[in-house]
Amino acid sequence: MKVLGIETSCDETSAAIFNDGKLLSNVIATQEIHTKWGGVVPELASRAHQKNIIPVVNEALEKADCKLEELDGIAFTQGPGLLGALMVGVNYAKGLSLALNKPLIAVHHMQAHILAHFIEAPYPEFPFLCLTVSGGHTQIVLVRDFNNMEILGHTIDDAAGEAFDKAAKMLGLPYPGGPLVDKMAKDGDPNAFTFAKPRMQGFNYSFSGLKTSILYFLNDRVAKDSEFISKNISGLCASIQKTITDILLDKLVLAAKEYQIKSIALAGGVSANSYLRNAFTQLGKQNQWQTFIPAFEYCTDNAGMIAIAGYYKLKANKIASLSITPKARIPGLETEI
Ligand code: KG4
Ligand code: ZN
Repeated sequence: MKVLGIETSCDETSAAIFNDGKLLSNVIATQEIHTKWGGVVPELASRAHQKNIIPVVNEALEKADCKLEELDGIAFTQGPGLLGALMVGVNYAKGLSLALNKPLIAVHHMQAHILAHFIEAPYPEFPFLCLTVSGGHTQIVLVRDFNNMEILGHTIDDAAGEAFDKAAKMLGLPYPGGPLVDKMAKDGDPNAFTFAKPRMQGFNYSFSGLKTSILYFLNDRVAKDSEFISKNISGLCASIQKTITDILLDKLVLAAKEYQIKSIALAGGVSANSYLRNAFTQLGKQNQWQTFIPAFEYCTDNAGMIAIAGYYKLKANKIASLSITPKARIPGLETEI
């Protein structure tokens, strides 16, 4: 069974082909245009998707040595994401489904981040807990099966990726700041500076307090020494990265204890962070967890994860109708049909 996956929720235009247990291709066109604006500009993202979608899908088919007629289903991201950006993928997928008379499959972007774990072995066994950390979401999810997931905790304000990007901006780093913080933290001391951590009930997160704490701290130090940031950039990056990681992992330990689950996974763009990956693996050893992190290229946005999520939905006969529309927000982890 061959499924084409299409991802256009934010600033990556991506297409991939998944065929029974194997990802045949995964083409990603990253939109560089947003860097000069310091963040993703929705209208520019939509236009870039329109420009990229046909060549990206064609390249994914070519690399997979697959003809359009050989596809068994067309999967696309319905949301959450930028409405105009999603619209491009949704309508392109609808067009293909109609022209080829092949099933249309709507995928929830955050569910797909979790299912990225099934692109390459070793696969986690159900049930497992997944900490999904991206630019727009931070969730602890109980994963019972491919299509049966429950959000146990989530952020009440900023997402972890947003915390990385906003902190990076305060340090004068360009967008997207997360990977740059990671890079610059390599030679820094993670204990050089301390920032406020939230006290949240249950398994929920909050990152807006950390943002304010970093801002006040920087304002205070820069007032005394205008070169404070450039002199301490690696220590600042390492300390911010450690604080975000500690906040993320503390709740994960609580959830693992409460649900008595020892199979624990990490997913989403922020799981590309080297400090978080390391700390997560170490924590797993201390707690006798079996830990799972997708390969680097399947952590950040890609259509491979959409294709695999579509594959398991097709198997479960979860087909979308042609009247489906994109959704900027979708509560839970199931698409709205
Ligand atoms: O999952 P993703 O690619 O897109 C969304 O669904 O949002 O996640 C993007 C987020 C951005 O905030 C980006 O800065 C962050 O993931 N990110 C990182 C790293 N790579 C990507 N944050 C910290 N360290 C990284 N190495
Ligand atoms: Zn994502």
